[in-house]
Amino acid sequence: MQQGKGILAADESNATATKRLEGVGVESTEENRRRYRELLFTTPNVEQYLSGVILFDETLRQSHSDGTLFPQFLLSKGIIPGIKVDGGLEDVEGGQVTKGLEGLTERLKEYKTLGAQFTKWRAVANVGDGYGDQVIKENAKRMAEYAKLAQAEGFVPIVEPEVLMTGTHSAEDAEGAIIETVAIVFDSLKKAEVDLPGIILKTSMAVSGKEAENRAGSEEVAERTVRALITAVPSECGGVVFLSGGQTPEEATENLNAIARREPHPWPITFSFARALQEPALDLWRGKDENKDEAQAALLYRLSLNVAADAGGYGKDMESV
Ligand code: 13P
Repeated sequence: MQQGKGILAADESNATATKRLEGVGVESTEENRRRYRELLFTTPNVEQYLSGVILFDETLRQSHSDGTLFPQFLLSKGIIPGIKVDGGLEDVEGGQVTKGLEGLTERLKEYKTLGAQFTKWRAVANVGDGYGDQVIKENAKRMAEYAKLAQAEGFVPIVEPEVLMTGTHSAEDAEGAIIETVAIVFDSLKKAEVDLPGIILKTSMAVSGKEAENRAGSEEVAERTVRALITAVPSECGGVVFLSGGQTPEEATENLNAIARREPHPWPITFSFARALQEPALDLWRGKDENKDEAQAALLYRLSLNVAADAGGYGKDMESV
């Protein structure tokens, strides 16, 4: 990761991509998913704000209309392609565990030949799951195993234990859940002897639940997020990036800005949003080529605001342009 630039999460599984595309009236065909990702990656000057893009398996194998495979296209712009390698979530008693360890080494070897240089594995936890929860421990164990295998194949692993924003919980409860979950993850990473300077933590911010009545403002979110991370993340961790998790684009940028203003932190930080970067662009595009320029401008603008926020230099007045 590179401070001053973000990492675009464009690694929605086909099921998630379908939800997003259908949300703006676009049929989720393989070609429409390709066209949408091409729009994102070909945004003029996007490389000024992005050091990496996380891709889904299907996208890693797809090409720009000129025939260049997407990973090669991104590399030609100086953007590092990464790949989501987990196999999604599976319902178990008491929560959801992330699948995907089976055959992982073989897939990693293939992803390397396709140009991927870093990897991502996401697990989810709900606020209120509580320390000692077997599901969190199982997820952490799998995450550590993934990170170990990814490092053995020469990748930088992103570990993403997402504390979900759904519900009516307070930011204080989210802070507690982040501390518990992330601490369990690092415990497992250490036990598995994962090289901590060689990993990136992708984390939620300590925000109030989406349905909470009085949602915490950015100063409180920043204070709680930074405190949670200082408590649970060893200083030798290679970096911390934030997911947006269902926050509005403006909310995610404002919270990132408040977090950055509390620098210095023990690790470099930046943003790695999917929805909070893509939503405005997707909403403008709606599958129509004639909307492409406007959609790309919206993506670029959102990126520029988040890069400003990552340096603590964002103000709400910048939204009105
Ligand atoms: P959101 O920013 O939409 O939460 O997505 C980030 C991500 O990578 C989820 O796995």
